[in-house]
Amino acid sequence: MTTSLHAGRTTSLWQTLTPTLPGRPLDGDIDTDVVIVGGGITGLTTAWLLAKKGARVVVVDDGPLGGGETERTTAHLASALDEHFVELEKLHGTGNARLAAQSHAAAIDQIETIVHELQIDCDFLRVDGYLFNADGDTDGTDLDDERAAASRAGLVVDIVDEVPSLPGLGRALRFANQAEFEPLRYLRALAVACEARGVRLCTTTHADTIEGGAAPKVVTDAGFTIRASKAVVVATNTPVNDILALHTKQLPYRSYAIGLRIAAGSLPHALWWDTAEPYHYVRVVRGVDDNDGHDVLIVGGEDHKTGQAEDTTARFAKLESWARKHFVVGARVTAWSGQVMEPIDGLAFIGKNPMDHDNVYVATGDSGHGLTHGTIAGMMFSEMIFGADHPWAALYDPRRKSLQGISEYAKESLNVAVQYARWLKGSDVRHDEDIPRGGGAVQRRGLSLVALSVDDQGCLHECSAVCPHLGAIVAWNDLEKSWDCPLHGSRFTPTGEVMNGPANTGLTRLDDVLPELNDDDATRPIPMYADRK
Ligand code: FES
Repeated sequence: MTTSLHAGRTTSLWQTLTPTLPGRPLDGDIDTDVVIVGGGITGLTTAWLLAKKGARVVVVDDGPLGGGETERTTAHLASALDEHFVELEKLHGTGNARLAAQSHAAAIDQIETIVHELQIDCDFLRVDGYLFNADGDTDGTDLDDERAAASRAGLVVDIVDEVPSLPGLGRALRFANQAEFEPLRYLRALAVACEARGVRLCTTTHADTIEGGAAPKVVTDAGFTIRASKAVVVATNTPVNDILALHTKQLPYRSYAIGLRIAAGSLPHALWWDTAEPYHYVRVVRGVDDNDGHDVLIVGGEDHKTGQAEDTTARFAKLESWARKHFVVGARVTAWSGQVMEPIDGLAFIGKNPMDHDNVYVATGDSGHGLTHGTIAGMMFSEMIFGADHPWAALYDPRRKSLQGISEYAKESLNVAVQYARWLKGSDVRHDEDIPRGGGAVQRRGLSLVALSVDDQGCLHECSAVCPHLGAIVAWNDLEKSWDCPLHGSRFTPTGEVMNGPANTGLTRLDDVLPELNDDDATRPIPMYADRK
């Protein structure tokens, strides 16, 4: 089913700053060299670098370009990895930790090159990054260990007694050569440049089937076929063409961000993040607050496993309280959430799709580094598709055995059992009428579990609560007004359309499975809701 929806109901700061990106629906069959599914940072970087080499490229996205997780980032461009180099060394060895650092540093360089080449006005700036101890973690031991490991990985890092302009935070690691920018302004310019090079950008175009092999192709929901002579790239944040191989090796998390007014120039350009679990991440955006002499401080964190928290709307208040403790800030001006995929062994999956033809490529497991990982993927794919070896291919190989993350894997297996036990749960609400407008709840009807939502007009929508990926029970996300699957992170609109993989189809409308229980349509106006607030 085609949907033009973004990946949530909240609006990121970047969405308010950037005019619409180009693109229009595909309107017929088409031949190309490479077809890319997903028009975010990964898809468009790949398209641009391929187009520069003379390849014909088609990009398809079921929403607008950048409408997935790219517009929901906070746009920290860091080679100082959030997995921490002490951990990466333990899991993968010093050489691979070094390679990982090099790849992210090269991605920042690549973004800077594109910014200069296309003269993109996106406030790209090289900044320092500061890692400081979380509240109560004052002995600094971890910082010393991390400094040593980061140095072995080749980063320029030292220890400062206090963070400039933020003396209350204590000692910190200072990483040189990090960066920041405005991601959607960058992506928009990249899209315009792609079009000028002949790349076909097809928005509101859903890829129903994706095939590699001798005749790689994508067939859209409108029935059009995109035939590719070389390869298919699936750049959908989490692959929609992989049933099991990758999704048991990464975990979906929701993360939250708020923007708070601060006096213009009161904080320097820098990236800050702490050692908390989950960690807080902070940066400044200048002069975007109606040009009234204020900057905006972006504060992110409060992560939790997707579909496994009931207090999604309360997370912003916790972030704000943390921010007010550490910074001098004014009113909240914006707030949004996004989704990150955490690989169990700390490294993304970028390369040839497991258990598939060699000309099907995927990129996922971005962790907190989606923009650099997306750029890394574009750099790799634009060479690998032409048959070249790539020095990062083994490091990020999606077909690698993640034995290093085995304890995490065991923990996750327990969590899987807990999530499937939700099949035995009762109803979230006893009666339909207990669901407020704009709300949703799972209701048991005999052996079935039904995902009920009530829209702003008071109409009830009924879908099966069973995720079409691998059969877990979805949970209502009241902040983003979506159905979220707690197992592998698939997400659906209140009326069941798929917003986020790995599912590639929507929740089953109830009238499709139990016609005898329903009216003609699974959307029923309920008169008694007329007075509902
Ligand atoms: Fe895999 Fe729902 S996303 S079961």
